[in-house]
Amino acid sequence: MKIEKITILPGRDKKGNREGFGKIEIIAGQKIGIVGSTGSGKSQFLYDIDRLAQGTTKTKRKILINDRTPPAEFRHDASKKIIGYLTQHMNFLTDTTVKDFLETHLDARGKSHKKHLVEKIIESANKITGEPITAELNLLVLSGGQSRALMVADLAYVSESPIILIDEIENAGIRKEKALELLSEKGKIIFLVTHDPRLALNTDKRLVMKSGAISQVIHTSIKERGIAHYLSWIEEYTLEVREDIRVGKRIEELKLICTPL
Ligand SMILES: Nc1ncnc2c1ncn2[C@@H]1O[C@H](COP(=O)(O)OP(=O)(O)O)[C@@H](O)[C@H]1O
Ligand SMILES: [Mg+2]
Repeated sequence: MKIEKITILPGRDKKGNREGFGKIEIIAGQKIGIVGSTGSGKSQFLYDIDRLAQGTTKTKRKILINDRTPPAEFRHDASKKIIGYLTQHMNFLTDTTVKDFLETHLDARGKSHKKHLVEKIIESANKITGEPITAELNLLVLSGGQSRALMVADLAYVSESPIILIDEIENAGIRKEKALELLSEKGKIIFLVTHDPRLALNTDKRLVMKSGAISQVIHTSIKERGIAHYLSWIEEYTLEVREDIRVGKRIEELKLICTPL
């Protein structure tokens, strides 16, 4: 089944007040930012999407897929699971090699015929982490950055989930813009919890969380995208200057600043 649309029906905030929106609709291909202070309900929102909540989670929200209540098999059958989840907490802590892990996962997803792709998957993970992963490494010895990079590549090539949830990857030690690029293939819906202004402004819209409720839905304006572009430029420039300093150069001239879009 093709995922064309996700609809969020209002639930309740932490005090039990009804959320103040009618419904929120997200269509295939959109990237949605989730912002708000600590404890405001960002991770809980992702959990609701992951569970395809039907009024029984803490928030009482309901999630519809293509305007309907999603079939139960979407939640229970691993091979039909439509949602990929990248969290702060690592969820593979098994004593097995990278290669075995990927092959077992391909089997579980009914994709045994794709086992020749394992090397390619590892290669793409290595574009996201600075510390190269090899097929024979044991999962138990992977660093935080390596295991997240492997999870991103796994989400992109093994799970191929049409809906991706990402919870604060900022401190994960990976090239996050590259990771997002790899995940945001055409047609996917991405929910991204982030405190990084560049990532938050590089979305189609953002949900502002407050006291457990979605308090605002802000559509990203063209000006905001321009500013995101400008912030990325500053980041790149900072990296350049850092490298120049490292190799012993003097920094006495400011590079001309590009104008925001
Ligand atoms: N609408 C809600 N009703 C009841 N509890 C909620 C609601 N939203 C969030 N919570 C709970 O509040 C706590 C903090 O929320 P969390 O999603 O972890 O915040 P954040 O990720 O923004 O830091 C969690 O225990 C969460 O389950
Ligand atoms: Mg959180």
